[in-house]
Amino acid sequence: MFFRLLFLLPEFPWSTRDPIQYPDSWGYPGVPVSRVVVALWLGSMAAAEGERKKVIIDTDPGIDDAMAIFVALRSPELQLLGLTTTFGNVHTALATRNALHLLEAVGRTDIPVAEGSHVTIKKAAKLRIASFVHGADGLGNQDFPPPAAKPVDQSAAAFMVEQANLYPGQVTVVALGPLTNLALAIELDPSFPKKIGQIIILGGAYSINGNVNPAAEANIFGDPDAADMVFTCGADILAVGLNVTHQVVLTGSAFCNVTISEAPFLHFDTSPFVTDADREKLEQCDSKYARYLCKIMGIYFDYHKDAYFIKGVYLHDPTTVIAAVNPSLLTCTEGVVRVQTVGITKGLTIFDNTKKRYGEITAWSGMPTVKVAVTVDAPAVVDLMMQRLMTDD
Ligand code: BDR
Ligand code: CA
Repeated sequence: MFFRLLFLLPEFPWSTRDPIQYPDSWGYPGVPVSRVVVALWLGSMAAAEGERKKVIIDTDPGIDDAMAIFVALRSPELQLLGLTTTFGNVHTALATRNALHLLEAVGRTDIPVAEGSHVTIKKAAKLRIASFVHGADGLGNQDFPPPAAKPVDQSAAAFMVEQANLYPGQVTVVALGPLTNLALAIELDPSFPKKIGQIIILGGAYSINGNVNPAAEANIFGDPDAADMVFTCGADILAVGLNVTHQVVLTGSAFCNVTISEAPFLHFDTSPFVTDADREKLEQCDSKYARYLCKIMGIYFDYHKDAYFIKGVYLHDPTTVIAAVNPSLLTCTEGVVRVQTVGITKGLTIFDNTKKRYGEITAWSGMPTVKVAVTVDAPAVVDLMMQRLMTDD
């Protein structure tokens, strides 16, 4: 069929003089080589297009969310189907405004934004909002004008379900905020976990302290009930936690030359980062992405200096997008993750490696397994992010 279609292609003028023909024995006599070349090229383009990973980013922008969205837009490996919004760093209405604004800022209003839930899966309206990390507007207190575009007339959960039905097994949701919208998508369509290709979650702290309190990471803390539903839903899930993202640092100049013993919250010696700071490289380059991010990231650096004693920022959300771009930069283990939903350890993610048969049935017994990232090639992740952000389209 494919070879029959070749005859529909016009012949190149420069090849008509002496077209080389494939031998009759191929069964398709008389196909000039130039047509074959064009067809193969078109075929490979189609294959490349087909290979682009279809991605929905569920996000609460957020400074590191902004970085992550830009990395996704700049990554030819990904096809961004849409942004869906959630509360977390800001309330949902502001997350929607920020998502529309970010797309507008870089000329990508072709990408739809679907607004997500304003309350947790259990309808709680009292939310933890991290304005002290990202600014009251979520984007470094820059007082940006309101975007002209509007969100689509569809909820985040409905958008996810629709896209999963349109492209069964092919859509990856990269979740960069609390997991309410994904939990709602599962409620809306119980077959969603089987139809979605993969869910990559920035969420949890596996065998290390959290960042909201010693127990919990912010996105899981934001809606622990939703998180527990998602982790146990049976979808193909990769969780990227603080144990990994605290190794991936965008450095600022005069990055503190401190050691782990001097700064107990630090997980590594910072001295290799003292020179050649990434922030300055971004400031010196002229891409619209870098220019925008340099405008908003001051407050994010201030927060890290106050909270962790470092002059650098953790690249939580960009690392998670890069897990979709190039999964080989992380390694993972597999097991069951359950989330504590009440008490002083609310939001704690507890991983069972399934290697032990317990004497009694536990809350982990028989639950679907997920992948949890354990190592990361941090320099490669930072390099890739810098590469993507320092060039324009
Ligand atoms: C997560 O919480 C938010 O502040 C960040 O955007 C990231 O998604 C890190 O715990
Ligand atoms: Ca986020």
